[in-house]
Formats: sequence, C-alpha cells, structure tokens
Amino acid sequence: MKTSRRSFLTLSGAAILLPDQTHAKTPASEPAPWWETAVAYEIYPRSFQDGNGDGIGDFIGMANRVDYLADLGIDAVWVAACFDSPNADNGYDVRDYRKIMPDFGTMDDFDRFLSRATQRGIRVILDMVFNHTSDEHPWFVRSRASRDNPWRDFYHWHDGKNGGPPTNWNAVFGGPAWTLDPATGQYYLHTFAVKQPDVNWENPDLRKELYDILRFWAAKGVSGFRFDAITSIAKPAILSDLPARLANGYHNFADHGERMHFLLRDMNREVFAGTSLYSVGEAYGVDRRQITAMTAASRHELTSAFRFDLVLGNKHKTMPAAARLRAFNASNAFDDTPNVWPLVWLEDHDFPRAVSRYGSRRPEYRQRSAKLLLTMLLSLRGTPYIYQGQEIGMENYPFRSIDDYNDISARNGWHEQVESGKITARAYLADLAQNSRDNARTPMQWDTSPHAGFTTASATPWLAVNPNYKTINAASEKQDKKSVLSYCARMIRIRKTHPRVIHGRYKDVSPESETLYAYERTDRTGTDLIVLNFSDRPAQFFLPRTPASLVISNISDTALPRDTTLHLRPWESLILTL
Ligand code: GLC
Ligand code: CA
Repeated sequence: MKTSRRSFLTLSGAAILLPDQTHAKTPASEPAPWWETAVAYEIYPRSFQDGNGDGIGDFIGMANRVDYLADLGIDAVWVAACFDSPNADNGYDVRDYRKIMPDFGTMDDFDRFLSRATQRGIRVILDMVFNHTSDEHPWFVRSRASRDNPWRDFYHWHDGKNGGPPTNWNAVFGGPAWTLDPATGQYYLHTFAVKQPDVNWENPDLRKELYDILRFWAAKGVSGFRFDAITSIAKPAILSDLPARLANGYHNFADHGERMHFLLRDMNREVFAGTSLYSVGEAYGVDRRQITAMTAASRHELTSAFRFDLVLGNKHKTMPAAARLRAFNASNAFDDTPNVWPLVWLEDHDFPRAVSRYGSRRPEYRQRSAKLLLTMLLSLRGTPYIYQGQEIGMENYPFRSIDDYNDISARNGWHEQVESGKITARAYLADLAQNSRDNARTPMQWDTSPHAGFTTASATPWLAVNPNYKTINAASEKQDKKSVLSYCARMIRIRKTHPRVIHGRYKDVSPESETLYAYERTDRTGTDLIVLNFSDRPAQFFLPRTPASLVISNISDTALPRDTTLHLRPWESLILTL
C-alpha cells in the first residue's frame, strides 16, 4: 500500500533545517510583500450574510457586504470552507473542490463576490481542506469499491489487528480514527469524523489532483490559500499504537518530521514557485521550531501559519489572560527567526469569542475589553486576522441545552461522554458553553431588525442569533463614534500609518505583571508604547519619560499624561508616542 513512500525517502534525506540565517532582510529595492501590512478578516460563510432568505449565509450576501469590509480597512478575506459538501463538518468535508457549496450559491455568485472584492482592493484567500475529503467524494467512492482499483491508494487503507483496528488511535471528533469498511474488509483512517477519510499524500497522483485544484482557483484570481489541518498530512511510515494518554487527538499520530516538510516543499515547488500566491497553514499540534521551519521564506514551504501551541492549549488555560497573551506574543508575533513572518489572531471559527475568553466578565467593561484586545491584536508584528463579529465585540452565545448546538464535535461528545455516563450532562454543558466552536458560529449581527439582519424576517437562521443583537450590531455601532466597530476601524488606520507598530523592535516593559501588559515598538523614528490593563481594577504604570502624544485610547476622555505616572482605569488601553 505504501510503496509510493519508499521512493521519496532518498529524495528527502535532509534533517529539519533551521531557516537560512544569511537572508535576514529583503533587499531595500524589493517592496515588502502585501501581507506584511495587510489586515485580514475571516468570513464563515454560513453565518455571515444570507442573500436569498433561506436562513443560510451565501456569496450573494458576502458580495453585498464587501463595502462594509472595505470601509473597515480590510485588505484580505479568508473565506472558510465553501465547496460542495454533505456538511458533516460544515464544509470541512469536501465532495467537490471545484464546485461552490449549493447552500452558498453558484460559481457565478462566487465570481461576482471575487470581482467586487477585487474592485475594492480586497484579496480573497480560499480554505483548502486537503488532509481529508468527504466519504462522498468520488475518489473515496471509487477507492472503497475494491482493494485493487487505482484510487485505493488515494486513502489510507489497512488490515485490522487482533480483530480490531490497525492501531489504538482516536479521532478528533470522538471514537476510533479507523473505520472498518465491510465491503473490502479493511479499515480507513480518519483523523476527524467517520465521514472525513484522510487522503494519502504519499501518492503522487493524489498530489497532482490537489495541485490542479489549487491552479484552478488561482486562475480565477484568488490571492492565496489557507490549508486546513495541514500538519496532519504526513503519516508515520510504520503504524504503531500510542500510549493511551496520547492516543487522543490528531497531532499525536501525524508525522511532523521530514515527511511533512517534504510534502510542503513539493506543493510549493509545483504550485507556488514563480507566482505571488500566498499560503497559510493551520499548524495544530506542532511546536515553534517546526513552525519556523514550515514558514521561513528560505525554506519554500508556507508563507505563514496559525499557531495553537502555548497559550491556546489546555496547559495554559489557568494562566491569567495578560500573562498568556504576553507569553504567546513573545513566542509567536515577536519570534525573530529571520525570514519568518508570523500571523496573529485571537478568534476563528473554531474558538469561543475573544471578549468572552480574555475580556471582563462585567458587562460594563465588555466594550472596553473588546477594544483593548483589538489594540493588542493590531499592534503586533505579523498579519492580523480578525474573525467576523470580533470587530463589533460579539460575545459567546448563552447556550442552555445540547439541542442548541450544531457542531459535530459537540454532538459526538455528548453521545460519547454523557450518554455513556462518563461525565454528567451538567458538567459537559458547562464546559461546552464556554468552549464550543458554535460560540463563534452564530450569525453575524448586522442591525436591530429581526434575526439581526442576517436573514429575512420570515426565515429561520441555521443557528440561533445571539439575543444581545439589539445592543451589539454593526449598524448601531457604525453610527456611534465610541463603539467597538468605530474603534476597530481607527486602530486599523493607525496600524497603516504607524509602520512601527508593525515592524518596530519589541520590548516587554511589564514582564512581571499578571494583569498589566505593556510593550514598546521602536524604530529609527521613535517609540510607541502600548499599555493594556487586563483588569476590573485601576492600575498605575510608570513611564520612562513624559510622553509626546496620545495615539489612541479605548476610553474617549483619556488625556495625554502630563508626567510619568499613568493612571489606568479598569480595562483601559492606550498607545503613546514617547
Ligand atoms: C480545522 C477546521 C475545523 C475543522 C477541522 C477538520 O481545524 O478549522 O473547523 O473541523 O479542521 O477539517
Ligand atoms: Ca442563503
């Protein structure tokens, strides 16, 4: 089955290399790549804007909101999974990579969205789910039909062991990572759900198909791709059981060694070389060293990557927000490995809302803490990604029962953990309410009309709208100069007019505090100081000198300090030029 693998081993003998230290700077004559100054925005199409009144977001709706994004200052949009899919995992189980999901419209609708976005200077990045397909994809349908068909090797088929699956690996969405297909008596591997079989990247014909799909979309004029679960594409050469504590979760059984890098370089050479296409990897389960190796320009693998290690992992859940984010930034945004351009983010469609996670629990500080988080996000080195709704300070949804959830991960977990008696419904629901991916997937809150203007009054939205939409919505916030939305637009403008908040040298000037996070960004022309009070209480901070000007504050009546003592109110954030 794995014969194709052997022949590649000789080609890829090199051990993991650290990025080339000799090309630390782009020559002054070359303009910086667009992603260094761009602000990106993720759209989860199902929840962004319904354009035809069926309760599901779509490309007609997205095209109608291009002006909103352009006014906000957005330069690039990452469109989450949008291809034809039976929706076992909301589009992350693709049936046809060259067809728009009918729920989201037609290819014409997509083309209209792309041209509207392009006209307004917004680049489009598509989400390529290439670790797995749907079990309804024609490749898999053919692959499972017999043991000896040409598509068999497009997937990972293996014999069982001792009457059970080949290994003890478990899938991310629960249950074993192997499913027996009775027709041929073999098991197939699925890192995620049963309906998401992993493809076999070792097969050159499979890779060719994937690369052709990228060329197809590139020819339409998209600017780049986000690669879903990309750190799972290489599998270990020898299948073996993992210690029970490690058998849960995909990052444990993927091969993050030379095979992963080899495959990324192969894709880069075949599709990206000689083009200006951008690529960003969802780099789950790998450490900083691997990420720098995947993303250093001199390695020719990916442009950038979303990092999840450190503060976003469970290990760090108990750390206070300021301490977690400081540690994450030090390692991610301010990693100064030559040739690595980071990506910075606080929310995407797989995580709860940032303001509910890192902000104040007190309603009176919601707006302030949402602005404080945006101040930080937009004053880091790296391409910032804003997730839809983050710019208006959307919060987690007040979930009550399991029926309120749509996510396969929530529903499978209920079945596996609660119905089997492993944990109580109460404990499970309490955890889910805080951490569920559906927190980020409730419809975008546009205005005060029924269903927050996401869909027409008579339609039923696919997932309930957060009842707080009368207060938190784009239309009201647009009118209000003190809103989170207005603040976000200002912060984006500041980022674009103060190159030092993007490229300046970083110095953490509050390294000990658990609630106050302050850092300087310095270049030849001066220093900006960013001060963030992650607390329901006031704080003091001593400045190195009397500041020259106040760039922005999240409280409208904050004045330029006249001496070197800064008195901060709860959740106050400001940027000062020293
Ligand atoms: C990524 C996606 C997530 C999806 C999973 C499987 O983590 O962001 O939404 O469920 O991959 O494709
Ligand atoms: Ca629709």
